Amino acid sequence: MCGIVGYVGVRQAAPILLEGLSKLEYRGYDSAGIAVRDENSEHVEVVKAKGRLRNLMQMTDSGNAVRGCCGIGHTRWATHGEPSAVNAHPHYSKEKRVVVVHNGIIENYQDIKDMLRRKGYVFSTQTDTEAAALLLDSYYTEPGRSSLSPRERALGAIRDMMIRVRGSYALGILFGDQPGVIYAARKDSPLILGCCEGEMEGHMIASDVPAVLQYTRKVVYIDNLEIACLTREEMHVYNIDCEEIEKPVAEIRWDAAAAEKDGYEHFMMKEIHEQPRAVRDTLSPRIKEAEDGTRSIDLSETSLTDDDLRAVSRILLIGCGSAYHVGMAERYVIEKLSRVPCEVELASEFRYRDPILAQNCLAVIVSQSGETADSLAALRLCKERGVRTLAVVNVVGSSIAREADAVMYTWAGPEISVATTKAYSTQLAALYLLAVKLAAVRGSIDAAREQALIGELLALPEKIERILGDKERLQWFANKMAASKDVFFIGRGLDYAISLEGSLKLKEISYIHSEAYAAGELKHGTISLVEEGVMVVGVATQPELFEKVVSNLVEVRSRGAYLFGLTTYGQYAIEDTVNFTVYVPRTDPLFATSLAVVPLQLLAYYISCAKGLDVDKPRNLAKSVTVE
Ligand code: M6R
Repeated sequence: MCGIVGYVGVRQAAPILLEGLSKLEYRGYDSAGIAVRDENSEHVEVVKAKGRLRNLMQMTDSGNAVRGCCGIGHTRWATHGEPSAVNAHPHYSKEKRVVVVHNGIIENYQDIKDMLRRKGYVFSTQTDTEAAALLLDSYYTEPGRSSLSPRERALGAIRDMMIRVRGSYALGILFGDQPGVIYAARKDSPLILGCCEGEMEGHMIASDVPAVLQYTRKVVYIDNLEIACLTREEMHVYNIDCEEIEKPVAEIRWDAAAAEKDGYEHFMMKEIHEQPRAVRDTLSPRIKEAEDGTRSIDLSETSLTDDDLRAVSRILLIGCGSAYHVGMAERYVIEKLSRVPCEVELASEFRYRDPILAQNCLAVIVSQSGETADSLAALRLCKERGVRTLAVVNVVGSSIAREADAVMYTWAGPEISVATTKAYSTQLAALYLLAVKLAAVRGSIDAAREQALIGELLALPEKIERILGDKERLQWFANKMAASKDVFFIGRGLDYAISLEGSLKLKEISYIHSEAYAAGELKHGTISLVEEGVMVVGVATQPELFEKVVSNLVEVRSRGAYLFGLTTYGQYAIEDTVNFTVYVPRTDPLFATSLAVVPLQLLAYYISCAKGLDVDKPRNLAKSVTVE
């Protein structure tokens, strides 16, 4: 949610911190701050500003007004305490002995505050983070530690703080009496270290890869309950017992340009257009062609053998938001093809209902970021209960990817826009592969059907390209729809799953109230909301359900609804009922989600633009939801 960046090295830190924060602003953005230590000065300088990062940039002349080669920075997405300069990070103790930036939530901050108040500490903010900063100060200044070296003192204090606090955190820490040193620690919140060379020589911390990409591709992933100590020349990582540990250096494959807009006005539009490439990259390497031309799906990367797949008795599809909608769609596909029962689980609810997990379950955790707190918690619960876990994740090296028994990466590349598009499409693609593979090894489809399905999968990218080539009509319609107050999306079966995603896209970036309904459910209550002019989007890609959805559209039309129909080429009868139609190319109906979602993404995008909203950074939302 919040973004963290730190740099210690030969260059001035503040411009690097601001540049890094600008790449993380999509994670959270109600205020920002930096703390920089000039080696020639006695103090750490802290500058904070409410609002967008540009406010902080103006206050600091793009960082040039703050001198020093060692610093930490933060963009905040408020949890405890309103968005304000006071509540913005960094937070610090008296005389800035300890200065902290934090991503996550300190759950027992009230207890800690009470305890520290009794010791004479005074709090100036409403945040949970200040409790961690002052707690660290109390341990750091304990008289018993005065004989230790500065590093031993810092490590011991950080360890004691980590033991005392409950919750999740990635922390960047400066100690006022240790110039040129950054400490970092994490538990259940992402944190990476960057190794910079040449004219950038030094080290970085960051909560996500885009913040360091411009400076280095060499990173170290910090694991839970680990502490890092960085200077210009050295990087050391310690476990919770303060014993030094070896960490491998990983090479990031994304380049910095992949995280730029590339001529598009918004990241969302760029990412929508990257879908053909992203889906192709996710599918093609996993489809092998034999000499006789027959194709098969190779999921050996997951270490799931054919025997394992035959033994699976139930599949749990777990995720949040759009990742949950992927599960909703894939349930239809997996059950239809393989006859393996599937359950779709909201990760945020999963652990609170003491789920019944049989031994031969396969839990599939779907997540773009690989850091969503609820999805990570669901993964851990499955593992605790002995259930095999498969992560379908976009960010290489993320927590979910590392903790799952097996990973299938979606090769979407960096997704910056808060509203997911290409990651969603690649998640669908990855799970289609699993569905077809399961069905093939279990013998629930024959070889001809397997070949036909694989052929359809390989044709998806080109069909998405065709939809993107005809987007102007949607732009025209979106301008008409921009004044809507309520929009309903309806569909049956897979079309209901598509509706859920279309509705989420619309509401998150256009701020128009929207609901998705299984079309048959409307008349059990919701149809009372339909009145003259209310917009209803009817999704009807499934041939055997087409007429039923159309008759549900007729029901709402006769109550005054204005209708948008979304179907496949050939289903022209829909035009007798709806006011505006969009057709997508035909595919196997099981894969229709991948095509039908694209016009709905474009619709949401154009409406958001027509309303002059911040498409990539919708209010109140963050890209990576690392708190519960
Ligand atoms: O990173 P994840 O895929 O785990 O994120 C899950 C949801 O937070 C995410 O899909 C969210 O709903 C998006 N903003 C939807 O566009």
